Amino acid sequence: MEKKRPAWTSRYAFILATIGSAVGLGNVWRFPYVMGQNGGAIFLIVYIFLILTICFVPLVAELYFGKMTKKEPVGAFESVNPKLKLLGALNPLTGIFISSFYFVVGGWIIHYLCYHNAGISNHSEYFSTLIQRPVYPCLLTLYFLLICIFFTSRGVNKGIEILNKILMPIFALILIFLVSFSLTLPNAHAGLEYMFKPDFSKLNSQMVLSALGQAFFTLSIGMGALLTYGSYIDDNKSVTKSAYTIIFADTVFAILAGIMIFPAVFSYGLEPNSGAGLVFVTLPKIFSQLPYGNVVSFLFFVLLFCAAATSGISILEPPCATLIEKFKISRKKACLILFGIISLISIPATLSFGLMENFKIFDKTVFDLLDFTTSN
Ligand code: PFF
Repeated sequence: MEKKRPAWTSRYAFILATIGSAVGLGNVWRFPYVMGQNGGAIFLIVYIFLILTICFVPLVAELYFGKMTKKEPVGAFESVNPKLKLLGALNPLTGIFISSFYFVVGGWIIHYLCYHNAGISNHSEYFSTLIQRPVYPCLLTLYFLLICIFFTSRGVNKGIEILNKILMPIFALILIFLVSFSLTLPNAHAGLEYMFKPDFSKLNSQMVLSALGQAFFTLSIGMGALLTYGSYIDDNKSVTKSAYTIIFADTVFAILAGIMIFPAVFSYGLEPNSGAGLVFVTLPKIFSQLPYGNVVSFLFFVLLFCAAATSGISILEPPCATLIEKFKISRKKACLILFGIISLISIPATLSFGLMENFKIFDKTVFDLLDFTTSN
């Protein structure tokens, strides 16, 4: 007998899970540093323009495609034309690639959740020593992967829905608290100016491309997550309205993440364009100088953890659903297989900063290659 496909318990659960997928490291870790590297406010304007124009249609299309076919990505493409099966397979494959670098960063977050700022004099050296270690970061990556796989293995209602219902409100509350806190810091207005006062001389094609990559990545477009989440919708309401809510929430959260980070960066006279290390080097430097810095630091990394975990499980769901429905295996077995495959790719990605830093493909380390191909 065919097993019944899972379905969301309500439209609210679907929207929350999809916002959870969209709002992730892309908003809190990637958006501020890419914005910092691309001239601040002008990047924000281009990014919002692209989200409202180019990204809206594929977002609705992907959700609707899933809702209409009620299938995982490979089956959905196959139902249009069997020849499109391979195109469909690109979705879960991309998910596996993204997860392999996403979980590396998730592992670093777990470390920073538990660490204590006191006594660290050089934060940059501290971070590079951490990620260069041969075994410890690999364990952190696997640990983060295990947490996400655990919730994925519990299924759509008892796993994905529950995780989002718990973590998303925590994320929103901490974000609002930290934004208010950041705005009270001296010279906070310089950060706001950087974010909202555009310098049109910084506009160039490379930056537009970066903004487009960021927009697709942050909305989780084109990687099967929206399609798979859409396929679990069990009502007849339109997805267009939900898409507006998802886009609105994702953009507001990205802007708030910027307002949380830039005023603090400017307040301490630090550089906003320090790249991927912005939240792991620049912010801890600030936290170490703040009153109650360890509390603020802990809250910030809890926030980052919530963002990463709710997106992490959405990255796992397309390959998981594909394994379950195409190979007719149980969710638990599918999760075990996924754990094996993702570990195999994410370990070299984790070691890209240490043992395997000289192992390059197309002149990029495994981590950079996965990040570049999936976000650009
Ligand atoms: N949107 C997530 C973020 O901004 O971090 C990343 C992501 C999740 C990309 C799910 C793709 C995906 F399928």
